[in-house]
Amino acid sequence: MSEAYTHHWDEIEYFELAIPHAEKDEKVAGAKKECNGCHAPISYVVGDVPPPRPEKNSRANESVSCEVCHSITGFEGDIPFNFNYIMEPGKTKFSSRKGDIASPAHEIVVTDLHRSGDFCGICHNEKSSFGMWVKSTHLEWKEGPYAKEGVQCQDCHMPKTEFRTAAMGTLYKDARLHLFHGGHDPGKVKGTIELRINPDLKEAEPESTVIFTVALYNQKTGHKFPTGSVEDRLVWLNVEAVDADGKKYHLPVDKKGFEGEDFTISSNVLAYQDMGIAKDIPDFEGVKRDAIPVGNRIFRKPYFDPQGRMTIQQWNTSSFGVDYRIGPRETKIENFTFNLPYDVAPGKMKITASLYYHKLIPSIAEFLNVPKEESEKLLVNQHVTELMIFD
Ligand code: HEC
Ligand code: HEC
Ligand code: HEC
Ligand code: HEC
Repeated sequence: MSEAYTHHWDEIEYFELAIPHAEKDEKVAGAKKECNGCHAPISYVVGDVPPPRPEKNSRANESVSCEVCHSITGFEGDIPFNFNYIMEPGKTKFSSRKGDIASPAHEIVVTDLHRSGDFCGICHNEKSSFGMWVKSTHLEWKEGPYAKEGVQCQDCHMPKTEFRTAAMGTLYKDARLHLFHGGHDPGKVKGTIELRINPDLKEAEPESTVIFTVALYNQKTGHKFPTGSVEDRLVWLNVEAVDADGKKYHLPVDKKGFEGEDFTISSNVLAYQDMGIAKDIPDFEGVKRDAIPVGNRIFRKPYFDPQGRMTIQQWNTSSFGVDYRIGPRETKIENFTFNLPYDVAPGKMKITASLYYHKLIPSIAEFLNVPKEESEKLLVNQHVTELMIFD
């Protein structure tokens, strides 16, 4: 969060898509100012619109700083969203506890809010100008099992350990580490989903049919997976078989037949045409919607622009497609029907199920020249099974 304004992809999206788009389309004009309510709150509060580019090293570069979070005293209304914080900047800092040793630098006032996931919702829930919940991490958590059990965002993202929070302060047994690991920390993402693949038969002959079942269990997140910038994320399941001769077969997922399913199975169609508005490309044909092997299951929730085309511009989102993400502690089942070819090699066949994650859809990263690490392919989990093929 300390790079929420300066991080290169944030800079590209704000200066190259959001601002030019806001200047051309009345309906999304607010984006120019409002992105900074969450990404550069100090600049937003004092009214820099737009703030200077990160290279100018203005106060916007402070991003979401200590000052921001520890000046928040509450939020307006009943639901935390769209930077509805109430701030009291000054010498008094607001936090979850006050030690025995007074700080020489500032006063501390204790709030209940800092101990609650509602605090995070102030920026981790976002409603577009079309009234769509384009970010809903806090709402997903609130509806899920963890909030009901009293597990807060802080318990997973600010773990407790023995630590002195100030050089001369108290040594706490349970001080909060400000890790805030998320999509940008591979260790946090790896293993989020537990994966198992099993065939319905242990042995088969050429030209027979085998059905592989993959179970995907969300064992780690307190919200859905993926969450947050869902419009950018690509989480997909790849199943591949290799026969005894080393010949590879890519297995497409079986269709389930629910409404909007096409958006959850990878294809070669183009999308994201609304980037053409900001980029001044009339009749922009778009870029590849998925940019991964065709026929794979994608766990996503598509965002649509007012023309009904898929978009990654959350501020331009006026409707959603089916929400096919994996909820907290939810298990999803996917089937793969494999009609074994007549010439499949006898012997052991190895079948691998892999779940991959891209923070940003690779075709978009390429189009906008976003640094490679934002679209790299990360393995979330993998499982291998075997099938004996007889002559
Ligand atoms: C994104 C918001 C956020 C930012 C940024 C942030 N904090 Fe915190 N901080 C919190 C929250 C929330 C808590 C309370 C967590 C709890 O007790 O559940 C906290 C707790 C603390 C505590 C008390 C820890 C304890 O266990 O008693 C100290 C001290 C502190 N923060 C200092 C800082 C400093 C210094 C910075 C900047 C380097 C900083 N914080 C940045 C949100 C933030
Ligand atoms: C003042 C607004 C604000 C508050 C309050 C806030 N966040 Fe954030 N948070 C952000 C922004 C903005 C980003 C995106 C940073 C970026 O784009 O580089 C972010 C990113 C994150 C990430 C993702 C890091 C990654 O690897 O991509 C995590 C995890 C996170 N916040 C957790 C929390 C938790 C937990 C709380 C509550 C204790 C919280 N945040 C409170 C604004 C906020
Ligand atoms: C039970 C533990 C748990 C709880 C509770 C939890 N999270 Fe997470 N969170 C995770 C894990 C694990 C990941 C990494 C996988 C992923 O990216 O979703 C994650 C990822 C994130 C991300 C990054 C998403 C992305 O794709 O960049 C954000 C932001 C975030 N959490 C915010 C929150 C907020 C805000 C809350 C409370 C409203 C919260 N989390 C509650 C475990 C938790
Ligand atoms: C209500 C608060 C809020 C507003 C308003 C907001 N953002 Fe964010 N933004 C966040 C949070 C929180 C995250 C982190 C989500 C995650 O980690 O998945 C984020 C993440 C991002 C990311 C990084 C995605 C990634 O891959 O990690 C970009 C780029 C971004 N925002 C750009 C913008 C732009 C441009 C605007 C204005 C049109 C905007 N944001 C408005 C809260 C906000």
